[in-house]
Amino acid sequence: MSDPATPSLLIGKTALVTGGSSGIGRAAALAFAHAGAAVMVADIDVDGGTETIALIRRQGGSADFIETDVTNAVEVDAMVAATVDRFGRLDCAFNNAGISGGWVSLLDCDDATFDRVMAVNVKGVWHCLRAQLHVMLDQGNGAIVNMASVAGLIGTPMLPAYGASKHAVVGLTKSAALGYADRGIRVNAVCPGFINTPMVDGFIEQVLALADRVQQSAPVGRIGQPDEVAATVVWLCSDAASFINGAAVPIDGGLTAR
Ligand code: NAI
Repeated sequence: MSDPATPSLLIGKTALVTGGSSGIGRAAALAFAHAGAAVMVADIDVDGGTETIALIRRQGGSADFIETDVTNAVEVDAMVAATVDRFGRLDCAFNNAGISGGWVSLLDCDDATFDRVMAVNVKGVWHCLRAQLHVMLDQGNGAIVNMASVAGLIGTPMLPAYGASKHAVVGLTKSAALGYADRGIRVNAVCPGFINTPMVDGFIEQVLALADRVQQSAPVGRIGQPDEVAATVVWLCSDAASFINGAAVPIDGGLTAR
């Protein structure tokens, strides 16, 4: 396993991670803590979130959990307020919570699935950005990373709603970055390829034959690990990435270079 993030990159900072109870979000929460940040973990999954903060505390880090559904603007505002109450400020935010909507063709994707994917993946990021920008504008600085996907850069015929939602996240990221660049705030997106998390396990269960194709889809010949995304997220939030703004960064083993 790779070192999740450079120690001391974020000492004295506070980071907020949505979807931090599992997969990439948990890896990012651990990586933020490893880099020295105090971490607020938010998710609808209370057991998973409790486990994430226990892992951080066991390693000597500072962390707390708040149950939050990112589709609910009131809960998102409360999540950001609780972060500032608990840790005094908000320096870094990783808007990561998301769902896939399942491996279906466009004609098999029903309206309810489309609406749910948009509500979590797009409206959720929208709610988070709004609440976080208010705090960061008052502070005069901050760095936000939104979770997009390679599906936000290229077409994905069996993930039609998901692909639309992740393209929207890239657009939102660019608009937010341009809107607040002159006020000390950077907003970027990450665009992972297939990463080994419960979300992808779900596809593999649905479409067994996909396992081989997933392995082959990245030019490096393997799927990615959550730590490999987490390290990039932490770095993008740090001063080491001070001139990177409005970017949609592929983390895909070269998939989108084809
Ligand atoms: P995961 O399923 O392990 O984690 C997603 C987390 O989001 C879960 O803890 C879940 O409870 C939480 N969540 C779902 N709906 C929520 C809501 N309404 N409010 C708050 N939390 C909610 O999946 P994974 O793979 O770690 O996904 C994290 C993000 O990474 C997602 O946005 C996903 O689209 C994105 N992504 C994943 C890739 C992969 O191959 N695993 C590739 C590219 C992007």
